[in-house]
Amino acid sequence: MERKNVKTNLLNHSEAKVRLLGEYLKRYLNIICNDGYTERIKIYDMFCGEGLYENGGEGSPLVFMRTIKDVHFSNVAKLSNITPIDCHFNDLDPLKIEKVKQAIGDKSLYYKEFGEIEYSSLDYQDELKKMLNILSALKNQKAFIFIDPYEYKHIKASQIENLMAKGNAEVLLWLPTQFMYRFAANGTPLALKDFIEELVPYKEWKETDNVWHFINQLKEGFQSKFGGKLFVDTFTIEKDASTVFCLFFFSSHIKGFEKMLEAKWEIDTEQGKGWSYTGNQPSLFYDLKTNPLEEKLRMFLKGNKKNNGEVYEFTLRQGFLPKHTNEILYNWQKDGKLEVLKNNNEKARKSSFYIAYNYYKKESKKVIFKII
Ligand SMILES: C[S@@+](CC[C@H](N)C(=O)[O-])C[C@H]1O[C@@H](n2cnc3c(N)ncnc32)[C@H](O)[C@@H]1O
Repeated sequence: MERKNVKTNLLNHSEAKVRLLGEYLKRYLNIICNDGYTERIKIYDMFCGEGLYENGGEGSPLVFMRTIKDVHFSNVAKLSNITPIDCHFNDLDPLKIEKVKQAIGDKSLYYKEFGEIEYSSLDYQDELKKMLNILSALKNQKAFIFIDPYEYKHIKASQIENLMAKGNAEVLLWLPTQFMYRFAANGTPLALKDFIEELVPYKEWKETDNVWHFINQLKEGFQSKFGGKLFVDTFTIEKDASTVFCLFFFSSHIKGFEKMLEAKWEIDTEQGKGWSYTGNQPSLFYDLKTNPLEEKLRMFLKGNKKNNGEVYEFTLRQGFLPKHTNEILYNWQKDGKLEVLKNNNEKARKSSFYIAYNYYKKESKKVIFKII
């Protein structure tokens, strides 16, 4: 049933996907428009679809334009200099592009003063080539790229790597993981093998019929392929036990990555699957639900002194926010399990952990943490 109407109606999981897109874009634009450096922002929606669905749902082009409009008008009131935002919408199907134009016009979502708007009906591979040339020539400009195909056969990890190579782009990639992992019975399709091989040697890949393991392996594969240069995380949307959709996001800048994680946690919290930490409070679920960040942080600090900058980066790379780590550190300190020392080896003020981007950038060795 779903396969029939997924293309003409915006279904719940797609709605969650475009919500995340909007939440992240809002944060991203607010930072970039105020960074005092970026002179222009370029947005590319490579598989943009038709914009307005039969059930009234709004797809990515309308989410992009609505967010840009909000950010623009709130900046007009606050800032003397507005950073132009150009948008490029592409879809192989020219009829869909016509629909997108129509919907943007009908809903008055574009004004010339935002920046330029462009449309194209090219195959993704051709669009990608054009885009790589554009990205390599950008000066003091940033790009935001949304890749939302029906099928993964279009996508290669090396393409993402190339898009990110200049450090001026963020990429959001929607992978149809629900159709990718169920291959065990018929053998792995060649396209999937090729996709995986770019991330990890296929003999190291563990075939699995568990979609969570599958997504985690892909994420780890991306992480090891891209090394320390890029930040990678996922946002998963669970429709039912075996149908899980996944958005991968890639950033070359730690601050952009933190904004993405904030958007993700905001939506997760609303959906009741967000942060849950009981510290040492007795809880009915305590045995069942040890906090994953607490365990990882313990391993990270065990036997090693780490400074506040390192703990900040570690926290984000695990997909968590500084406020989560602060809660854990606060509890450990309260229970006498953690020592926080300043440069001169004196104890730091209680509850002062300095886990934040500004400290990471300017005072990443302000304190060190030692598990007792
Ligand atoms: C998942 S839909 C996009 C949904 C859209 N982002 C949204 O939020 O509503 C994928 C789109 O890719 C387009 N498409 C299929 N093959 C393509 C190709 N080779 N190059 C570019 N677009 C393609 C389809 O026409 C379809 O509209």
